[in-house]
Amino acid sequence: MGPCRLNYRSVAKPEVLNTDALSKLVYRAASNNRQLGVCGVLIVSDGRFLQVLEGQSKFVNNIYAKIFKDKRHHDIELISFESVVKTEFHDWDMKLFKLDDIEEHVRELLINKYSVVDNKIQFIDDAVLITSLLLDMKHLKN
Ligand SMILES: Cc1cc2nc3c(=O)[nH]c(=O)nc-3n(C[C@H](O)[C@H](O)[C@H](O)COP(=O)(O)O)c2cc1C
Repeated sequence: MGPCRLNYRSVAKPEVLNTDALSKLVYRAASNNRQLGVCGVLIVSDGRFLQVLEGQSKFVNNIYAKIFKDKRHHDIELISFESVVKTEFHDWDMKLFKLDDIEEHVRELLINKYSVVDNKIQFIDDAVLITSLLLDMKHLKN
């Protein structure tokens, strides 16, 4: 089987949102992902996570199974899981973006395009828009 892309969203436990806990999580995830040739982006906004994982489907599946059981978040919802011709996020083993802390000009661009509640960008249940948001983040930050 070729590469696949998986997107899910979840609600973070408040204690995982502090910088130390998040850095620890991302550091470990990056090291695991690198070993399996899986790449990913984790976005945090308004106390929620959105993650994309790309790689060989059996590895992506295994990682998702671990993530699903992880007590640091809850209400995990799979948004999409599909085969792809080409991965888009292969530059990153694991990249973290905190949308509540990004530069103002980037925020304004995203706010004009995506769903916003109380000035916070929301992760809606739509695979096309979610991939578009991730690609925008990638290009805006490059
Ligand atoms: C929001 C979130 C995203 C995560 N992303 C990844 C990931 O991309 N890769 C990964 O290996 N673990 C990720 N984890 C951690 C896994 O749930 C699990 O703790 C970890 O894979 C266990 O690694 P270990 O077997 O090396 O201890 C994530 C956890 C959370 C809460």
